[in-house]
Amino acid sequence: MNTKTITPLLAAAACLLATGCRQNMHNQHKVKPLGESTFFAGGQGARPIPAHTVARGDLREGAAFTGLGADNKPVAQIPPEIKLTRELLVRGQERYNIYCSPCHGRLGDANGMIVQRGYKRPTSYHLERLRTAPIGYFFNVMTEGYGVMPTYAPQIPVADRWAIAAYIRVLQYSQNAKLAELSPADQQQVQEQLANPAAAGEPHTPSAGGSQGVQRPASIPRENNGRTESPGDHKP
Ligand code: HEC
Repeated sequence: MNTKTITPLLAAAACLLATGCRQNMHNQHKVKPLGESTFFAGGQGARPIPAHTVARGDLREGAAFTGLGADNKPVAQIPPEIKLTRELLVRGQERYNIYCSPCHGRLGDANGMIVQRGYKRPTSYHLERLRTAPIGYFFNVMTEGYGVMPTYAPQIPVADRWAIAAYIRVLQYSQNAKLAELSPADQQQVQEQLANPAAAGEPHTPSAGGSQGVQRPASIPRENNGRTESPGDHKP
């Protein structure tokens, strides 16, 4: 071997040795999360967080996070951070139907299924007081809760709470729109439907009495020749 081949080999060996030494650094003493410590008085490894510490990106201040303005009153407009688009309203509709409609009803008339089963009935969104309430009020109620209604802040992110608040405005408008505000084509359609409600295709309402079963078309004969069914008659 000449010096030309030996030098790279020596260099490689030196690298290996150097990385070997670094193990000590890897295995040095440390305190595991919430572990014990003999260093700090009190024996607690974790240090208390200094007062008023805010984690990066966690500052939740201002109307966008509270729905309240500088005067501590609900804001009348969606904050500029939130863009009012069709997508926002569609998202709001979806989130509203998931999180709010069980009590407030899909129409916002406070007739949700949980209310029908005995939960406290909220105020309908279509009463004057809530129709004229500023949009920040709805955001703030979702964020902080209201009376027996719990906060939804842990379940619904900020942007979605604004989407829901915006959609509540849609619901309110849907039940209180003036005919003259619609386009001429829509006005005509409404007039036609009012004149002939049967043709308008009323939305399907499940029949009272709890019969949820699918109607059997008359053309399919019953296996039991029309005898009254008893539970044992159900065969796969
Ligand atoms: C579990 C049932 C329930 C759900 C779900 C629910 N609420 Fe409520 N909400 C209530 C009740 C009950 C009240 C009235 C509370 C009271 O008076 O103690 C109320 C009150 C309100 C009010 C205040 C109305 C007023 O009279 O000023 C607003 C606004 C509101 N809810 C919005 C929402 C929104 C938005 C959602 C969905 C994120 C939602 N709620 C989900 C039951 C519910």
